[in-house]
Amino acid sequence: MLASGRGSNLEAILRWQEAGILGAEVVVVICNHNDARALEIARSYGVEAAVFEYHRKDFEERERAQAGMSALMQERGVGLVALAGYDRVLVPQFVQRWTGRMINIHPSLLPAFGKGLHAQGDALDHGVKVSGCTVHFVTEDVDGGPIISQAAVPVLPGDDLKSLSARILEQEQRLLPAAVRLFARGCLRIEGRRVVILEEE
Ligand code: GRF
Repeated sequence: MLASGRGSNLEAILRWQEAGILGAEVVVVICNHNDARALEIARSYGVEAAVFEYHRKDFEERERAQAGMSALMQERGVGLVALAGYDRVLVPQFVQRWTGRMINIHPSLLPAFGKGLHAQGDALDHGVKVSGCTVHFVTEDVDGGPIISQAAVPVLPGDDLKSLSARILEQEQRLLPAAVRLFARGCLRIEGRRVVILEEE
C-alpha cells in the first residue's frame, strides 16, 4: 500500500485483514514522508514499512524513487497496489507497470472534484448537496480511471470541512477494504471505462 499521512484507510484495511475478512495480505506499506503516522500503523500490525522520500518537483528524483518502489513491491510479490492518501503523482512508467493492479480512494464522487488534494473543501465551496467517495483503478489520467465503487453522503446544513470530511471518511474506510477484497477474489473485470463486478462466491 502507498500512503502519505494519517493512515486511517490503511488501518481499516489492516483491521479487515486481522478479522480475516480481507481475503488478502498487506505485505508492504510505502510512504513518502518519514514521519507519516501510516508507518507506525503498519509496524504496529507487524507489516513492513518503507520510506521513499523525494521532492515533488525534482522529476529525476521522483522517477528514481518510484522505480525503487516498484522494485521493492515486485520483490515482495505484490499483486495489488492500493493508494490510501498518497499525495504524489505517479510517473507514467510506474502507472504502466501496475496498470489494472492499482486502485485509489478519492474523497469525492468522481468525476466531480478530482485532480486535487482538497476535494471535500471544493465540494463545500461549490455548494453541492451530496458528496462521497470513489474507489477507482489508477490510470495516467489522474483521478480519471475506471470506477469500481462509490458511496454517497449528504452535505448537511451547517457542515464544515471537518464534519463533511469525517462523514466521507467513514465511507472510505468501508469502500476501500471492500474493493481490495473484490480484487483479491477476482471479481473485478475492466471493460473500457466500466468495471464489471462479478458475483462473490
Ligand atoms: C483520505 O480522505 C483519502 O481519500 C485522501 O486522503 C485521505 C487520506 O486519509 N486521498 P488517511 O491517511 O487514510 O487517514
